Amino acid sequence: MLGAAVFSLLSLALPATAETVVGVYMFSRHGDRTSKSTPPTSLTNLGYQQVYHSGSYWRSRYVDGNATSKVLGLKSDIVKQSQIAVTAPVDNVLQNSAIGFLQGLYPPVGSDSVQTLNNDSTVAAPLDGYQLIPVNIVSGGTGSGSEDNTWLQDASGCANAKSSSNNYFSSAEYQEKLSSTSDFYTNLYPVVNRTFAEDYMSFKNAYAIYDLINVATIDNASSSIQSSNLLSDDTLYQLRTLANAHEYGLAYNASDNKRAISGMQLAGEILTYLNRTISSKGANKLGIQFGAYATFLSFFGLSGLADTYMDLTGVPDYASSMAFELYTDADTDSFPSGDDLRVRFLFANGSASASNAPQVFPLFGGTDNSTSWADFEAKLGAFAVRNAEQWCTTCGNTTGTCAAYSDSSTQDVDGQKSGSNGGISNVVAGVIGAMVTLAVILGLEALVLALGGFRVVSKKSLGVSPAGSSVAVKA
Ligand SMILES: *[C@@H]1O[C@H](CO)[C@@H](O)[C@H](O)[C@H]1NC(C)=O
Ligand SMILES: *[C@@H]1O[C@H](CO)[C@@H](O)[C@H](O)[C@H]1NC(C)=O
Ligand SMILES: *[C@@H]1O[C@H](CO)[C@@H](O)[C@H](O)[C@H]1NC(C)=O
Ligand SMILES: *[C@@H]1O[C@H](CO)[C@@H](O)[C@H](O)[C@H]1NC(C)=O
Ligand SMILES: *[C@@H]1O[C@H](CO)[C@@H](O)[C@H](O)[C@H]1NC(C)=O
Ligand SMILES: *[C@@H]1O[C@H](CO)[C@@H](O)[C@H](O)[C@H]1NC(C)=O
Ligand SMILES: *[C@@H]1O[C@H](CO)[C@@H](O)[C@H](O)[C@H]1NC(C)=O
Ligand SMILES: *[C@@H]1O[C@H](CO)[C@@H](O)[C@H](O)[C@H]1NC(C)=O
Ligand SMILES: *[C@@H]1O[C@H](CO)[C@@H](O)[C@H](O)[C@H]1NC(C)=O
Repeated sequence: MLGAAVFSLLSLALPATAETVVGVYMFSRHGDRTSKSTPPTSLTNLGYQQVYHSGSYWRSRYVDGNATSKVLGLKSDIVKQSQIAVTAPVDNVLQNSAIGFLQGLYPPVGSDSVQTLNNDSTVAAPLDGYQLIPVNIVSGGTGSGSEDNTWLQDASGCANAKSSSNNYFSSAEYQEKLSSTSDFYTNLYPVVNRTFAEDYMSFKNAYAIYDLINVATIDNASSSIQSSNLLSDDTLYQLRTLANAHEYGLAYNASDNKRAISGMQLAGEILTYLNRTISSKGANKLGIQFGAYATFLSFFGLSGLADTYMDLTGVPDYASSMAFELYTDADTDSFPSGDDLRVRFLFANGSASASNAPQVFPLFGGTDNSTSWADFEAKLGAFAVRNAEQWCTTCGNTTGTCAAYSDSSTQDVDGQKSGSNGGISNVVAGVIGAMVTLAVILGLEALVLALGGFRVVSKKSLGVSPAGSSVAVKA
């Protein structure tokens, strides 16, 4: 009787939906930027606002003291660097977007963070307590300047992804669109004749044409756009829809998925980070990566999302973000065991906000709003590329940093057996051997522990290089 009474009191105290989020991995696109056809590409004020607001929204979900899905133990106001890891490729638009996002996630703290000196005087940080959060980069990687590239695999050194994407141009689907839209594009030439040659006007360049015009309709005065009377809503919609089809075609093909290398690398980074969250019992809580829209599309294809949700085959709007929440179905103060952990996937098309809240999408073609961690790890692991060796094998690259792996014909790219001769050390070997080529996100602290001898390597130079090199192929 007493037991039952206590039990019902407890259940009153805990809402039926009680859960605790213990770690999150996020991936975000940059905000509004200038056109790729007018390089160098740069983030606009509007874009800065978009990523800042997205950061503020995610703050209200994970970080703030009263956050709706507060991450267990995550510092609310003054950032604790070891809890979060932020990465972006060597690219002005993506780097600046990451910084703008972080300003929303951890805003200035005023005089809350005051240092007291030896002589008892106090010092607050400049700019009202602005918080410095490092954005780790791929140093000198092939992802450099990815926002200036107009073609999907331009920034990717992945040989097989290049030829796979190229095959899109000989597909029936592409050829059909190329001929059926020929007049549509030619008719729009007067709008863009200052930038493009007439023979550029075809479905072959669907994204570059869409990008120039889309940017103009957002950032240019109408009076400065030539022949703007040609740009009806319907025409703009068709430009977008055709660009979407073109980009998805380059980013994913179910029967030839090598072109989705950026999505495979992202999957590897998600697993590596969340696995570290678990193995460190929550020391690493929030992984955030900025990257290209093509990575979203490749990932949506690989994870079965695009099969179920047609919208997800379209280029995500500026400042779109997705999150993988690692949580347990209980209200707890201590880190749960792996068996009790689940993963939920959320995506916001465009800058996340209360009025554009991220939606939950069931992964892998299922109907559940979440999957067990074990299932998530197995299903993502089936296509994840987690280290340099897997990257080299998947890409068919055998020279340069890949020479070291070129004779390992036993490599099983899709399975996880490849990591068996050394687990983390295999991953570490990848980072050290191919830091520039391939980036595997690792919690640096544990990396240092695992490799005592590498203490002298600074956090920044190790770089947690994101798969920037090829994940960042295009945004
Ligand atoms: C959470 O707290 C902040 C101030 O710390 C406040 O601005 C915000 O409105 C609060 N949000 C909710 C949902 O109560
Ligand atoms: C205390 O030390 C700081 C740093 O050396 C110096 O800038 C400041 O003037 C000192 N304050 C006093 C009151 O001496
Ligand atoms: C991979 O191979 C392609 C084609 O041979 C080459 O262009 C690219 O630079 C290579 N990438 C790396 C990282 O070795
Ligand atoms: C997808 O790959 C298959 C097999 O390589 C190929 O026949 C088809 O044309 C490709 N489709 C697209 C749209 O790339
Ligand atoms: C470009 O298009 C404008 C109309 O939008 C036209 O006046 C101009 O002559 C065209 N220039 C060229 C080089 O075709
Ligand atoms: C929009 O403005 C930029 C910068 O002035 C210019 O380079 C571009 O051609 C304009 N776009 C169009 C479609 O007129
Ligand atoms: C995002 O929204 C745009 C329209 O604003 C749409 O064309 C596209 O398909 C959407 N993408 C995703 C991934 O939801
Ligand atoms: C999944 O979540 C959505 C809202 O986010 C809800 O409408 C739906 O009922 C949920 N589905 C399941 C199976 O719980
Ligand atoms: C996950 O972490 C454990 C413990 O550190 C490690 O043994 C294992 O190899 C990791 N798995 C993956 C897939 O990274």
